[in-house]
Amino acid sequence: MRIVTVFSLVALLAACNTAHQEATVPGRWYTAEQVTAGKDLYMTHCAVCHAEDGSATVEWRTPGADGHYPPPPLNGSAHTWHHPLEVLESTIANGGVEFGGVMPGFAATLDGDERLAVIAWIQNFWSDDIYSRWTEINERTQ
Ligand code: HEC
Repeated sequence: MRIVTVFSLVALLAACNTAHQEATVPGRWYTAEQVTAGKDLYMTHCAVCHAEDGSATVEWRTPGADGHYPPPPLNGSAHTWHHPLEVLESTIANGGVEFGGVMPGFAATLDGDERLAVIAWIQNFWSDDIYSRWTEINERTQ
């Protein structure tokens, strides 16, 4: 089921790209249009916790006084690139509460295309090295 979902996402992306004749950013799965759309959505919904440049929180491994971990950096400097696309997408949709975390879910606020656009914006921060390591992890899950 998971495999089918990822495959459908990729197929959908490929179909969209063909329909609009939009080129992907070289070496990446997403288009420049998705990055632009994702930036606006990120600034509105995510920057308050993860910082505008995705750098919050530097001390992401240290729980706060309430016992919860702070929002981790999404800019490639922390753990986020260990997650395949499907997991990133479902984390944004469902949040972290079901795993004992505090991040709210965005399934009711952002549709599937919008969640993918936000991921494009986040991944745009990642170096080619981090991105290629992520690609290996992502491909292993398919
Ligand atoms: C209220 C603060 C808050 C908001 C708003 C928020 N997050 Fe988070 N986010 C967190 C926290 C805290 C975590 C750590 C897990 C947990 O506690 O749920 C997290 C974890 C994540 C992770 C997993 C990172 C990893 O390295 O495993 C991703 C991806 C993520 N957030 C993306 C987003 C995106 C995209 C948005 C906007 C659509 C967003 N977050 C909005 C607080 C927030």
